[in-house]
Amino acid sequence: MGKLAITGGKPVRDAKKKWPQWPISDAADAALLSKITRSNRWSFDGPYEWEFARRFTEYQKAKHGLCCANGTVAIQLALEALGIGAYDEVIVPGMTWQATAAACLDVNAVPILVDVEPDTWCIDVKQIEAAITDRTRAVIVVHLYGCMPDMTAIKSLCRKKNLFLIEDCAHQHGAFWKGKGVGSIGDVGCFSFQESKVLSCGEGGFNTCQTQTLFEKLYSLRNCGRGWQGDLTHALQSGNYRITEWQAGILLGGLKRLDKQVKHRDANAMYLNSLLAQIPGVLPMRRRKEITQASYFNFAFRLDWERLGCKDLTNVHFSAALSKELGGEWEPPYDPLNKCALYKPHTKPRHNLNKTYWKMIDPSRYRLPVCEDANEKSGVVVHHHVLLGTKKDMEDVAEAVAKIVANLDELRQIPAPKRKKYRGLATV
Ligand SMILES: Cc1ncc(COP(=O)(O)O)c(C=O)c1O
Repeated sequence: MGKLAITGGKPVRDAKKKWPQWPISDAADAALLSKITRSNRWSFDGPYEWEFARRFTEYQKAKHGLCCANGTVAIQLALEALGIGAYDEVIVPGMTWQATAAACLDVNAVPILVDVEPDTWCIDVKQIEAAITDRTRAVIVVHLYGCMPDMTAIKSLCRKKNLFLIEDCAHQHGAFWKGKGVGSIGDVGCFSFQESKVLSCGEGGFNTCQTQTLFEKLYSLRNCGRGWQGDLTHALQSGNYRITEWQAGILLGGLKRLDKQVKHRDANAMYLNSLLAQIPGVLPMRRRKEITQASYFNFAFRLDWERLGCKDLTNVHFSAALSKELGGEWEPPYDPLNKCALYKPHTKPRHNLNKTYWKMIDPSRYRLPVCEDANEKSGVVVHHHVLLGTKKDMEDVAEAVAKIVANLDELRQIPAPKRKKYRGLATV
């Protein structure tokens, strides 16, 4: 029996001490759902849907906004609304949930995978610049976990090169860059309301945009091509990507709690980062000074194995040990898209436009060393419900990290835990 919980020692946190649960709802949400059930408006431009859309758009400080089926569809609709289609190149970070790139394939565009910054895991502006060709039409930035890319530099590069800027905000409802909400900086913003997200209705999505023309296109694309306010003279080819009034009801409840929860997580994340920064070999993620409010889907930190003097250990060992000390699912960040078990463009016959396209969408043609290092060695993440805890909970986390760092020789004695291929709450 060793000192670490993974070798049979006493854990830092008693297993009976639970972390806050997610998702959260209250009696008012249940009452609203019941009211919707008894009404005769269950979907299709319902009053709760538009009330939510108005309030959420206002909160993110965007000009226009509307609901759609989920976050993947939100990206797909954004691309279509911007006129992006067959063979157009869209620059996408290699570190993200597969949906960011999969949505590009779904409009027959070519996702061009580029590497991320080592200290934010967000798309690196230098890599964007190097990847631009005369076929590039757009850049999708992902506000990943609690970090943001250099939005000022990326926006100005997109302007200079005449590229659309799409923000994948699936992780960061309530994040602000110099006071502007995510989704209000680029041309179109895309949100997910999937169960694990910081604003959720089980499944759902949202688009924000800055012009009435784009809004009307997005409206039409999510609504079987029908034009805004019933106009059929400019109808488009599309499908049904609407949401229901029950989803909107749950979102209205969540939105009432959102800002307080975001602020609570942000304060805890800053406190935890200040504690982790004191542990040699442990590196907090970089919070850019332009971020006026950070929103966390996952909390992340990095391990500098050279500094820790253990090049034979990885984040898989560390996160398994941390899960035993604290409870919950601590795990490596996303699989990079060039090696992701759920990003398999060649398994879908409809992507087989021709031999050239087939080759262009092969993810194995990319080298993404920073993404790979984060996923295979240095990164550790945990779902945001942990940040809803108390200050003392954050101290438990820092204590557990310090304990493992002080007992790495013991961690070496156990067989390497298996790397999970499809992971839990922290993933999607
Ligand atoms: C970064 C990112 N983009 C897009 C999505 C897709 O959202 P959804 O699961 O609602 O389709 C997710 C959610 O899993 C995500 O994390």
